[in-house]
Order: sequence, then C-alpha cells, then structure tokens
Amino acid sequence: MITCMNNLLLSEIILHHFSQSPVAGYSDYPFRKIIRKYGCRGLIFTEMVSGKGYLMNPSFHEEILHFDDSDRPVGIQIFGGDPEAIALAAEAIEKKFHPDLIDINMGCPARKVTHKLGGAGLLNNPHLAEKIIRECVKRVKTPVSIKTRIGWNYGDMLSRTLIKSAEENGLICVFLHLRPKTGLFSGKLELENFLSIKKEFKIPLIANGGVYSKDDFLRIYGNIKDCGVMIGRGSFGNPWLFKIKEPDYSTPSISERLSVLKEHLCLTVNYFGEEHGIPKFRKFYKPYLTGISNHTKFLPSLFREKNLSDILNIINLFAV
Ligand SMILES: Cc1cc2nc3c(=O)[nH]c(=O)nc-3n(C[C@H](O)[C@H](O)[C@H](O)COP(=O)(O)O)c2cc1C
Repeated sequence: MITCMNNLLLSEIILHHFSQSPVAGYSDYPFRKIIRKYGCRGLIFTEMVSGKGYLMNPSFHEEILHFDDSDRPVGIQIFGGDPEAIALAAEAIEKKFHPDLIDINMGCPARKVTHKLGGAGLLNNPHLAEKIIRECVKRVKTPVSIKTRIGWNYGDMLSRTLIKSAEENGLICVFLHLRPKTGLFSGKLELENFLSIKKEFKIPLIANGGVYSKDDFLRIYGNIKDCGVMIGRGSFGNPWLFKIKEPDYSTPSISERLSVLKEHLCLTVNYFGEEHGIPKFRKFYKPYLTGISNHTKFLPSLFREKNLSDILNIINLFAV
C-alpha cells in the first residue's frame, strides 16, 4: 500500500514535530522502528545513498532504503555532485520506494564527498547546487528538500545562496545544521546568524544541531518562533528525547532504558542476523548505558560477545 502524505500535512509535521536527521551507519531499519515507537512523531530518514551509486546498482541499496508504511513520514537522502545522476536516482527512488520526501545532501563534510563537489562542497559551488535542485524538481513529484550547513567557515553564511535556490524552486523546506563545515560535529552553533537568515526567507528553515536533552532544546531553540527542529545524535540510546515538548515528559528510568536497549538489540539481530547485527549494534551500548553506574566495567564484555543470549544475560546484570 502506498500512502504518501500531502505536502501541507508534511509541512505541518516538519514544523511542529522533531525530525530525526539522517545519520549514516545509525539510521537503519531497527533504529527507525525504535524511535518511532518511543517518541518520534516527525519525519525520519533512511541512510543516505549516492545518486551515481544507486543508478549503478539499485538492488545493492534495497536493504538500507527499505521501510514500511508504519514508519511514515519517511525521507530518503541522496548525495553527489552530478545533477543528472541525482535527478535520475531521485526519479528511480520515487518510483520504487515512494518516500514522503527526497532530500539532497549539501552538508556532508567528508573529503571523499566534498572532493566530488557533493555534500558541503556545494556551499562553494552554488550554481551547481542550483542545477541539482532544478533537475531534481523537474523529475519528481515527491516534495524535495536540501540539508545543508549554515556556511563553510564561521561567519560566511554561504547557505544563503542555496536557501534562495531552494525557495525559488519550490522546495518544501531546508534543513540547516547550524555548525559550518569547519565546525564539523562539535563546533559552536551559529544561532545569531541563523536568526538573521531566517528573517530573509519564507521557505521553512528547520534548525539542526546540539539537542541532546530538554535543557539543550530550551536553551538553544526554546525562544525561536515558527522553527522546526531536527535531532541528530541526541536520540541514540534516548528515543524518548522526541517527547521533550510534551507536558508530561520525564526522563526514562534505568529499567525502561535497559528494556528498550534489549528490544533494539533483538530487532537488530532479527533484521540483520546475529553475525552482522551484533557488531552493527555495538555503537549503541554506550548511549543507552551512559549514566548507569558501573556500566564501563561491562562494556568490554558486551563488545566481545557474539551471541545474543550471552549479551542479554550481561545486560540483565545491570538490573540487579
Ligand atoms: C556518524 C554521523 C553520520 C552522519 N550522516 C549524515 C548523513 O548521512 N546525512 C546528513 O545529512 N547528515 C549526516 N550527519 C549529520 C547529522 O544528520 C546532524 O546534522 C549532525 O549530527 C548535527 O546534529 P546533532 O548535533 O543533533 O547530532 C551525520 C552525523 C554523524 C555524527
């Protein structure tokens, strides 16, 4: 069954509920199931795919792009620096997966991506970025967005040219990571510059960066009107984070965290099998266990074990 959302409803959801940002290596099917079940009412993304890579070998990407109707609204993100390849990939992905949104990555700082003029490389190549946007909207009916960074360097606000192209070409929104490319993933957020950019445009700008708790959200974005917010790493081990705007929100108990940790692990093993699922899941132990006393003592054995039932036994030791 294909039940893509209409644009108006999708815009409302993006503006009023936290979205989960695409995070390569993390935003897999079991992770998406967990965040949807425990809190996320906004847009979620699959892991990004290269436009050229998808066209060369569509079946190779089937597993990472797979989602169910119950996961909606779901966005699929494409990266690359070749307008034709991105537009053709968007068309093929629309036809096969029917996502609610197609996003073009214009913010990835990895050298192997920026070198080929993809990701954040497009901040320095606004004509190419515009061409990518134009080709893409010509080919697909699905709403299109871009996700970019506020600039390349602190203070340059290079995103303004890309946001202008997005607005002129009728994109649904722009997801804006408030750290410039040189700020990578831990630099300061450019909040003042974001507020001044926001005044210049009508297209919705969805702010991203730095929300790892309710206090972070209130301190950074609490006073900004009409501002959608996208959460990245904050939801790792904490799918309840999406509920921080709800009046009855409270941080989960240790037993809830351990129970969801086990559920997430079992889903991962069910989906990928024990051999692949267990190594894939290792990056989630620390986020779920941080703050639980003595957890560091158990991490080496959690990392060593290859068998699901042995790992569940170790996790059960935390509860006693
Ligand atoms: C390991 C890792 C992988 C990421 N992969 C992507 C990606 O595929 N596409 C993308 O647009 N952003 C990606 N990002 C950036 C995040 O979506 C997000 O913009 C960034 O982490 C800032 O948000 P946060 O401070 O809430 O984590 C990635 C970040 C990390 C740490």
